[in-house]
Amino acid sequence: MKNKIIAGNWKMNKTIAETKTLIGSLIPLVADTNNTVIICVPFTDLATAVELTKGTNIHVGAQNCHWKESGAFTGEIAPSMLVELGVEYVVIGHSERRTYFGETDATVLARTNAALSAGLKPIVCIGETLAERESGNMEKVLRRQIVEGFKGITAEQLANVIVAYEPVWAIGTGVTATDEQANDSIAFCRSVFAEIYGEEVANALYIQYGGSMNDKNAAGLLAMEHIDGGLIGGASLVAEKFSGVVNAHK
Ligand code: 13P
Repeated sequence: MKNKIIAGNWKMNKTIAETKTLIGSLIPLVADTNNTVIICVPFTDLATAVELTKGTNIHVGAQNCHWKESGAFTGEIAPSMLVELGVEYVVIGHSERRTYFGETDATVLARTNAALSAGLKPIVCIGETLAERESGNMEKVLRRQIVEGFKGITAEQLANVIVAYEPVWAIGTGVTATDEQANDSIAFCRSVFAEIYGEEVANALYIQYGGSMNDKNAAGLLAMEHIDGGLIGGASLVAEKFSGVVNAHK
């Protein structure tokens, strides 16, 4: 059995002062888990988060990085800058970035490659919209996001990648995919990875579920065969809720 990887995506929330409070509360609440715990915080909170989590079982991630090492890219952050801070993970291609900031499968792939080259572990997000699901195009969309978004990524590189399946209709809506819906979609994603990389690599790949996951519904989701963890938005902003997810699976 794999352990689970539970990552909090704080999105654009928490000042440095609030970060100190939240991490201070979180450390004892997740100290006894066998699962991997990651918090993906805004750029401005990274240094504080790395400092406060030293010597604990909490790992720190960013929420984006650029595909170039340096240059005239106003407002962007290079992977090496994150590594220098002590950051280990980075969320890539979140649906909010695809929707609001023009992220495409090609830019997702470019950022993933750059992150891997710098030694970061990317958490690459995929997922269908409600319209895509209801029109019967879910599998087509997920397949495209995997085939295009991982083009040229080797099996060796994939061992350092986490995939997050986040159906867009479940994000921030309070509507969670059922345990079976989430498991079935992730099983489908895994089958596409298996076509490309073979069964063994696909089975070893961590695929998280994300979308209104919280301390109440986590145990059911995490008990499903194909769900290797969670990417948690809203519930990751409250120490008791996030730790409830982390501790939902022993
Ligand atoms: P919510 O948990 O707030 O639905 O957000 C999920 C998400 O987008 C995590 O990346």
